[in-house]
Amino acid sequence: MLAGLVISTGLFSQNQMIVDLDGADHKISRHIYGHFSEHLGRCIYDGIWVGEDSPIPNDQGIRSEVLKALKEIGIPNLRWPGGCFADEYHWKDGIGPKKDRPPMINTHWGMVSEDNSFGTHEFLRLCEMLDCEPVIAGNMGSGTVQELSDWVEYVNADIESDMTRLRKQNGREEPWYVKYWGVGNESWGCGGNMNPTQYYEKMTRYSTYMRSYPDKPLYKVAVGPSGFNLDWTEEFMKNVAEKGKSWLFNGYSLHYYTVPGGWGDKGSATEFGESEWFTTIRKALRLEELIDRNLQIIDRYLPDANIDLIVDEWGCWHNREPGTKPGFLYQQNTLRDALVAGLSLNIFNQKSDRVKMANLAQTVNVLQAVLLTNEQKVILTPTYHVFDMYQVHHDARYLPVQLNGEDYEMDGRKIPAITASASRDDEGKVHITFTNAKPEEAVAVQCHFQGSADLQFTHGQVLTHDQMNAHNTFENPENVQISNFEDAHMDDGTLKVDLPPKSVLMVELN
Ligand code: AHR
Repeated sequence: MLAGLVISTGLFSQNQMIVDLDGADHKISRHIYGHFSEHLGRCIYDGIWVGEDSPIPNDQGIRSEVLKALKEIGIPNLRWPGGCFADEYHWKDGIGPKKDRPPMINTHWGMVSEDNSFGTHEFLRLCEMLDCEPVIAGNMGSGTVQELSDWVEYVNADIESDMTRLRKQNGREEPWYVKYWGVGNESWGCGGNMNPTQYYEKMTRYSTYMRSYPDKPLYKVAVGPSGFNLDWTEEFMKNVAEKGKSWLFNGYSLHYYTVPGGWGDKGSATEFGESEWFTTIRKALRLEELIDRNLQIIDRYLPDANIDLIVDEWGCWHNREPGTKPGFLYQQNTLRDALVAGLSLNIFNQKSDRVKMANLAQTVNVLQAVLLTNEQKVILTPTYHVFDMYQVHHDARYLPVQLNGEDYEMDGRKIPAITASASRDDEGKVHITFTNAKPEEAVAVQCHFQGSADLQFTHGQVLTHDQMNAHNTFENPENVQISNFEDAHMDDGTLKVDLPPKSVLMVELN
């Protein structure tokens, strides 16, 4: 249909886009806007969990300001307890009276001791307070089949048993119902160093004993590749196709980190020039190709299985901030990270027929965090503001977008300068989100609509700054923040919008 419009009107010259108001038949799952909180550095302990006796204002041990900020962006789900930590976490050590919980060493992240004071009850209470869905990554690396089976029973069963008695003894009468479960994490690496066939075989046993209790069907996520190692997907899906066990999982996980300098010297989060800016955007844009190439393999082996993609770890990974603990992955967050967030979320929206969940790594004080804390203080990062602006897309009807934008060129390389995605909410309002990666140039876009509607521009929001490394600090927490955006208007059914340099933008039409 869109192609017809393009050909018949010749509209599709540069910086033109077409939004199809009638072409959508699915919603953008709000779970694309999910988060990830691991027992890593100061994410859980100190970031989210300060304990009931802390002088820091808290609600049953959870830092109040963090709760409030996460509620304000409508956080739809939270993945826990890892990450690599998940495969060394023994959930039974984190239940019951706190004084009886054994301490453990977090061997992946900093070799620090943890007292297990934040466990299953605390995590699920946090999710209830946030009104979000819990996503639990099960231990398939160092835990047993029985242990994972027991965990599911403990949180989901409503039938007399050892596990349900134990739950009640620990103060929780009703089961919670955790729908989303990861069957392991990065099993090709920290989750057990398996090959895809070994993982397939192990996964089938663990998944079999992760039971769905009456009216509580589980949604299980199998482990996908490390970045572009598509051989993993090829071999794993071949196993599934040949042995016919696709019903043992519903989603297939991808992890994709944008690492500007590569895994050695990743580069500073705040000290960079245009070359690093460009490289970061270029690498982040590869997410689209990663999604497409995995889908091609899945659909070749399992054309009828309808397996969702779950990007349950993504975001920028920079060098840790100077002076912070090794293994704690504390990094600052600039306008560059916000651009990566905006374009990645646009990609997920555009692929939302198959991408059904994504989780930014990680919520507080770790990697591309939305919140940073320092003793009593909490600040919102530029990435937080992108999640705030993009809330309009949560569970809204997806609108297909065709975009022909100009390139951004540097040192002989070219990438698309702009990205966009669109949706329509239950009240009929249309929202379009854009990113413009060009650091010094505004881009004027003309947006045409296919389908019936008499739309008017009502308002917009923008996140931008004069400096590409602008960020918020505890001394200057509002250096980068959302402002109103007026630079758009409708002209004879066409939306004309000027995207400021290095910006993330949302426009609303009604
Ligand atoms: O998010 C940090 C780590 O990155 C996670 O623990 C792991 O799954 C990934 O390698």
